[in-house]
Amino acid sequence: MAVFLVIVAGGVVRMTQSGMGCPDWPRCFGMWVPPTDASQLPANYESYLKQQDIDHTFNVFHTWTEYINRLLGALLGLLLLVQFAWSLKYWKTDRKIIWLCLGLLILTGIQGWLGKRVVDANLATVKITTHMLVAILIAAIALTIIHHLSPGKLFINKKLRNITFVTLGLVIVQIIFGTAVREQIDEISKAMGYENRGNWISKLDNVFYVHRSFSLVVAAFCLYVFFQFKKSGIRLLSTPLILISVFSEIVLGIIMANFDIPAIAQPLHLLFSTVLFVALYNNWLKTVA
Ligand code: HEM
Repeated sequence: MAVFLVIVAGGVVRMTQSGMGCPDWPRCFGMWVPPTDASQLPANYESYLKQQDIDHTFNVFHTWTEYINRLLGALLGLLLLVQFAWSLKYWKTDRKIIWLCLGLLILTGIQGWLGKRVVDANLATVKITTHMLVAILIAAIALTIIHHLSPGKLFINKKLRNITFVTLGLVIVQIIFGTAVREQIDEISKAMGYENRGNWISKLDNVFYVHRSFSLVVAAFCLYVFFQFKKSGIRLLSTPLILISVFSEIVLGIIMANFDIPAIAQPLHLLFSTVLFVALYNNWLKTVA
């Protein structure tokens, strides 16, 4: 839950363009608790504001949105630390759990560091893609831990397991295309002073068309996986989620492309891509060869 909350919070930061609300990291305007009013800014606050690319003024809403995002990240880190300490009780019986919990803790730490790099580089490209891929890996490890602790009923079906695996791969490729589109949107929107949203899509290059068309391939595979699971009588809560999330992704994509990228559609598009990945991954975990 906490992992999802942090992903959604990151999406909200982006939607509200609050990413540079705290121009430094880990502190915010050099303070551990950021100001609620411009009058509380430190004397050298202009050196911080210079790093912002949006309005170069203090915006309490942007600052606190970004700050709460960081607090949630820190809370997640703390929860994972507790989880790791708890996992040590499996030292003699099931060491895999300990490695998974440690991996999750380290990756989340790396993600926080990447967050800092994203801020340092003024939300620079490539790092955003890495940030997204690490987020997915974190979600996958979290699910693997849950699965390892209580595997529930497993289903023997090699064909389904393989086709789900291929679909997972296609979804990851689509997510990489998606982040490439998003990186372009970042550059275009910045160049246009975050105005004229209606013109952003027309300035995208071919990667947008590849992303758009590839969604049909992804959708076809997801549909196939969905119906194969139904046909084989395997009942999993995540199976309908595959269909719901791929459908929502495409609808949201079409809305963004045709209705001037409504800000709310951006984090939802991001969220459903993660839900799609997690749902498929869960179905893969529950089938054995
Ligand atoms: C299986 C279907 C799809 C998946 C899994 C997917 C996934 C993604 C992901 C992960 C991103 C990056 C989001 C971010 O970093 O904030 C993205 C961005 C984007 N996608 Fe998709 N997408 C799909 C379908 C579509 C379709 C059909 C369209 C258009 C018709 C579309 C249009 C866009 C646009 C415009 C962006 C940039 C959004 C932004 O700047 O926040 N997507 N997509």
